[in-house]
Amino acid sequence: MLTSRFKKMLAELLDERVGFDVPMAGYTSFKVGGPADALAAPADSRQLTNLMVMLEEESIDWFVLGGGTNLLVKDFGIRGVVISLKHGFSEIMAEKTGRDSVIVHAGAGARLSALCRYAMENNLAGMNFAFGIPGTVGGAVIMNAGTSLGAMESVLSEIDVLYVPNRPKTVPGSRLCFNYRGLVWDDSMITEKGRAPIILAGRFELEPAGDRDQRAEAESLQARRRQSQPAGFSAGCVFKNPSLQMPAGKLIDQAGLKGLRIGNAQVSGMHANFIVNLGRASASDILRLIDTVREKVLQAHGVELEPEIKIIGE
Ligand code: EPU
Repeated sequence: MLTSRFKKMLAELLDERVGFDVPMAGYTSFKVGGPADALAAPADSRQLTNLMVMLEEESIDWFVLGGGTNLLVKDFGIRGVVISLKHGFSEIMAEKTGRDSVIVHAGAGARLSALCRYAMENNLAGMNFAFGIPGTVGGAVIMNAGTSLGAMESVLSEIDVLYVPNRPKTVPGSRLCFNYRGLVWDDSMITEKGRAPIILAGRFELEPAGDRDQRAEAESLQARRRQSQPAGFSAGCVFKNPSLQMPAGKLIDQAGLKGLRIGNAQVSGMHANFIVNLGRASASDILRLIDTVREKVLQAHGVELEPEIKIIGE
């Protein structure tokens, strides 16, 4: 719990840009999750830096929230300060235009869908793989979000980061290492306290699309997704695909688990790697369903599924 002295310091720094005991259910696509002690939305880098210095000095834990679309927050919520970059860090603009490529800068808090739309409207190719993936640019970089058509690493040329508490830096893509659904930070980039830097923005190298019809391609990808993925409250795919030949959705489906329900959480009947909140699910309903699916898939196929979503809080 935060002391009233610290809450006052936060309010003095951030004015109306900080709230206390904020239910995370309002900030996650699953629509579940207990309260964060504080939710802070700094207006710019200066305010973010001041906030991080304060948090480090007071040894208060913190967590950067992206779009909340790949996240399961537990029912008792998050101790410490949750930081949202959605308001102060969401600019999208072309920075450098060459003959064969255009570098587009996108703030970490910008919606990934806004970056895809920007590319489409400016006839730039390269982002279409991400059409329909929810969440923010920062979250998508950290998760190396992608589909079978591509992933963030293929278009990212560099990122701006803040080494906590106060050292901003640009890291070229060549120094970043990605794996399937994750950015793996180099040891030299981790702070003494074991924290990764905060991503402030990404630069994406896109190509002038010429005559290729970006809009038609994006629309057909989205239509395909709508046919195979449920529209309800979810966090997208719950488990990583163990391999290309063994997609988690297929393993769960073949184990006969579509429609399995615990409380108000249910394995989607449309795509078995989705869990949907039917309305008033708790995080513990979803967690119990995740455990049950893992157990049953292990029994049926001898394969251990690993969650793709991030589970946080208490
Ligand atoms: N399948 C089933 N039953 C199901 C679901 C899928 O048999 O209930 C089979 C499909 O028929 C297909 C295979 O499993 O043969 C793969 O399914 P799909 O094409 O839907 O792709 P996926 O591997 O389940 C991945 C990403 C999705 C992304 C889609 C579309 C992962 C873990 N998931 O899903 O990403 O939207 O491709 O490109 O990589 C996410 O990251 O949250 C996410 C949903």
